[in-house]
Amino acid sequence: MTDFKGNLGNYKILKTQDNTETIWSEYFDEACHNLSGAYEETLHNYINGCSIPDFLDQKSEVAVLDVGFGVGVGLKALIDQIQVSSNPTIKLHYYSIELDETLMLWSLKSTLPGLSLERKELELGSEKLVVYEGAWLKSSKLIEVQIYIGDGRLTLPLAFALNLIKPLDAIFQDAFSPRKNPTLWSVEWFQFLKTISSQSVQLSTYSSSVSIRKSLHIAGWIITQAMGFANKKSMTKAKLTGETSEELTLQMTRSPSLEIRDK
Ligand SMILES: C[S@@+](CC[C@H](N)C(=O)[O-])C[C@H]1O[C@@H](n2cnc3c(N)ncnc32)[C@H](O)[C@@H]1O
Repeated sequence: MTDFKGNLGNYKILKTQDNTETIWSEYFDEACHNLSGAYEETLHNYINGCSIPDFLDQKSEVAVLDVGFGVGVGLKALIDQIQVSSNPTIKLHYYSIELDETLMLWSLKSTLPGLSLERKELELGSEKLVVYEGAWLKSSKLIEVQIYIGDGRLTLPLAFALNLIKPLDAIFQDAFSPRKNPTLWSVEWFQFLKTISSQSVQLSTYSSSVSIRKSLHIAGWIITQAMGFANKKSMTKAKLTGETSEELTLQMTRSPSLEIRDK
């Protein structure tokens, strides 16, 4: 594999310690995954972080949002999970957003070569929405894939207005870091995610920043922390039910870090 140029600058392909690949983005000046292992990190932070095996065992229909398609590791890990699930009949709706169409096409080819998606342009009034759609099917296990191209802050509300999004059961909050990619960590973004989620949704993210925890908390999410992947001490999970612990509430109150707001 050779490095390549996308719509948002150059991408460097990096081999991570579990032998799977990630990319470093010149535009965001960051890698998509922890270099200790792209696939292992995805299993820890998102598949287990959002209790995907439990959802697959207990429900016949599951809806997942992957915040940032990136290299497509989230989708690859979901396909692997659905294959080993003991539930013989599952329908999974996979939604993702991606700013860089060239990166998305590169990732489909290299991470998910067997998956073929069709590019469609939808309209809502004067607004256009570009989506790559398709399905992965084995016996009666089905994943319906929709990847919205462009800024997710615009595309996802449009897709929701077009009735294309089922209430979310799981959210892989996997944007680049809050410092580099603040619009996907703001109070307003988390408020919007709440409106498209089911009451039993589970959100999970690698970030343990107090600012993003404050954003989630102010937006009405209940926060817990969990052990982070590899060298990371902790990560953050969020739900819409229960209570944030006193310890975390105190941590947020004492910290001078501010929540992130849309400008
Ligand atoms: C950390 S990577 C995601 C990795 C991915 N979940 C995976 O498993 O490979 C973040 C991705 O979000 C995309 N992104 C950043 N800001 C975005 C936005 N406003 N709308 C849509 N995609 C965005 C980036 O281009 C990048 O590909």
